[in-house]
Amino acid sequence: MDSFAAKIIRWQEKHGRHHLPWQHTRDPYAIWLSEIMLQQTQVNTVIPYYQRFLQSFPDIRRLALASLDDVLARWSGLGYYSRGRNLHRAARLIVSNYQGKFPESAEIIRKLPGIGRSTGAAIAVFAYGERCAILDGNVKRVLARCFGLEGYPGDKRNETLFWRKAEELLPTSQAAATKGSNEDINGLVETYTQALMDLGATVCTRSKPKCSLCPLQQDCVAFRHDRIDKLPSPRPRKLLPMKETILMMLMNEGRVFLEKRPLEGLWGGLWCLPEMAVGGNTMEHCRGRLGLELDSPVQVPMEPFDHTFTHFRLRIYPQLLRVSLLSSTPVRDPGTGIWTTPEDALQAAIPAPVRKLLTTMRVSS
Ligand code: ADE
Ligand code: SF4
Repeated sequence: MDSFAAKIIRWQEKHGRHHLPWQHTRDPYAIWLSEIMLQQTQVNTVIPYYQRFLQSFPDIRRLALASLDDVLARWSGLGYYSRGRNLHRAARLIVSNYQGKFPESAEIIRKLPGIGRSTGAAIAVFAYGERCAILDGNVKRVLARCFGLEGYPGDKRNETLFWRKAEELLPTSQAAATKGSNEDINGLVETYTQALMDLGATVCTRSKPKCSLCPLQQDCVAFRHDRIDKLPSPRPRKLLPMKETILMMLMNEGRVFLEKRPLEGLWGGLWCLPEMAVGGNTMEHCRGRLGLELDSPVQVPMEPFDHTFTHFRLRIYPQLLRVSLLSSTPVRDPGTGIWTTPEDALQAAIPAPVRKLLTTMRVSS
């Protein structure tokens, strides 16, 4: 049975990308530059920028000597300018602290400005053949799907598990020995790393992955369990601020009172149950705001429930009030308040939580 590494390495040799401009060099500076540009930008966009940048600043010293303005001018159009600033800063640091020689292990590389653990590892792999794992967005996606790793991979705890998996999967020198003579472990790690990148970019894409072309299909958990569109798990939704309100269901002889919301604001222009601030006085609210004189309303307690909007959650305290009207002073503007049957109300433009309340009420009454 072939290992994960063996499978994607074999795939890479046949179907991977072999002619990217940063692939046939051992110059850590050129590789560093490519990895930084590729952090947030697609390969095809990067290529011309990469080539022009290398012509303007062919080595670390010349980059360090250049002014930040010149460097950023060359970066212009690529976006995320902090990448250019960090590159320049790191070049000066390498000149002052490392005699202009790019550091040679992932552990040191990753401490440079603008280089994280994954980028540092990629540079160490491609420049020195170091056996270390990468874990960028593409790799997280492949691992989440192939091994059914649940949980948002950007979360610190999950990320640790993804890193552990990524390290566990690295090809071993034993594998290199079995494979034959033409590649040692260093070359194998390089091919393996490029394979992961290429597989994520061309086969195991975010949407509509080409599973029929994937060397991992047989083992892939997401494929087998039909969970491709569920993995990797999305970023959990932010905790939204909670607001609260009372929605009054005023019932009179099988009819419910609805008022039309002003066009501006929440539920603008929809027909809605009258809303009242938590702690408000029901009788006064009816008299003052709605123009309804109520005869000792009977309150039926109801369970509060939550409704989620884009920017906040609303805890709704429904108040079911069976009322008889003493003097039904007509509502100030007949266009803004009506007594209607729940059935008719459900035909109208009403907010989702009101629909929910009216539906349960119809069922229970
Ligand atoms: N994305 C990040 N690094 C890459 C590389 N070396 N080749 C292709 N795509 C990449
Ligand atoms: Fe991705 Fe499909 Fe391959 Fe699974 S089988 S790793 S989902 S491309």
